[in-house]
Amino acid sequence: MARRPPDDVILAIESSCDETAAALVTDDGELRANVVASQDELHAPFGGVVPEVASRRHLELVVPVIREALADAGSDLSSVDAIAVTVKPGLIGALLVGVSAAKALAWSSRLPLIPVDHLLGHVASLYLRPLDHEPPFTCLLASGGHTMLLDVQQRGEYRVLGTTLDDAAGEAFDKGARLLGLGYPGGKEIDALAAQGDPNAFAFPVARLPGLDFSFSGLKTALLYAVRDLSPAELAARRADLAAGYQHAIVRALVERLHATGAERIAVVGGVAANSELRAALPDATLAPLALCTDNAAMIGSAARYLRPVPYPEYLSLDAQAG
Ligand code: KG4
Ligand code: ZN
Repeated sequence: MARRPPDDVILAIESSCDETAAALVTDDGELRANVVASQDELHAPFGGVVPEVASRRHLELVVPVIREALADAGSDLSSVDAIAVTVKPGLIGALLVGVSAAKALAWSSRLPLIPVDHLLGHVASLYLRPLDHEPPFTCLLASGGHTMLLDVQQRGEYRVLGTTLDDAAGEAFDKGARLLGLGYPGGKEIDALAAQGDPNAFAFPVARLPGLDFSFSGLKTALLYAVRDLSPAELAARRADLAAGYQHAIVRALVERLHATGAERIAVVGGVAANSELRAALPDATLAPLALCTDNAAMIGSAARYLRPVPYPEYLSLDAQAG
């Protein structure tokens, strides 16, 4: 594929779940602006993302977020060379807001549009400067929607080696947090509380599966039973120990599977890559920068550097895909 000039600027948009985000990235991997408007507080009362609520909020936020990214970089649309947008996978109504905005911007400025797979985006959080990580490597992608082991040979692609058979690791954190009476999103809350607990006070199971797949539903049930066996006073007293034990089991499952690949070059990306115990457990791995673990548009712009731009007006028929 013919590369763009290194100083070409990509305006990237991400709206696949509950973050509305825009970023400006150069083809050389320099991040010029990175704006993320999180909807966490909006969904917290429901203990999870409500798709219809997410779409409506994306609609309100998408233009202001793009404006803010351009302002942060001290530029305007005339200095943008391509528009990139997440087209899959995610909540369909949420994705459509970003895709429609991207099409409208690209069309009105006669720019090419680069459709990006959100999962490739997470991997590409490793490709921005100064990290600029080079394949080949084996990548653990652990987020709220996915938990996968990927074989990455080139920057524009990946091959799936293993995936979760039930819940994603981030989903396990979020559901565990709900059982413990903590807030949403749960990963960060469990991470903080676990630091005050004893990871060995409760024995939580790690699923033993053949191959490189993951399973977290048994662990979630084990936490449910542990919580049910405690009185409210006991639960309050043991909450940190439960959080520590539960987090420890998730981290063990992820680390064991990574090591089972036999890979020497290991990388970790996605929201769960922000977890402090996971980061500490993999001292030799390349970790996504903390600010780029949870959803953002910088990683989408980064992935777009390695993908084929769709010329005007071919992209007007482009669709978002949930899966
Ligand atoms: O990548 P992401 O923003 O969204 C998806 O693409 O799904 O990941 C969000 C997930 C949530 O489940 C959240 O609880 C989890 O990442 N997460 C964490 C931490 N920070 C965010 N999980 C464990 N420890 C953390 N520090
Ligand atoms: Zn994500």
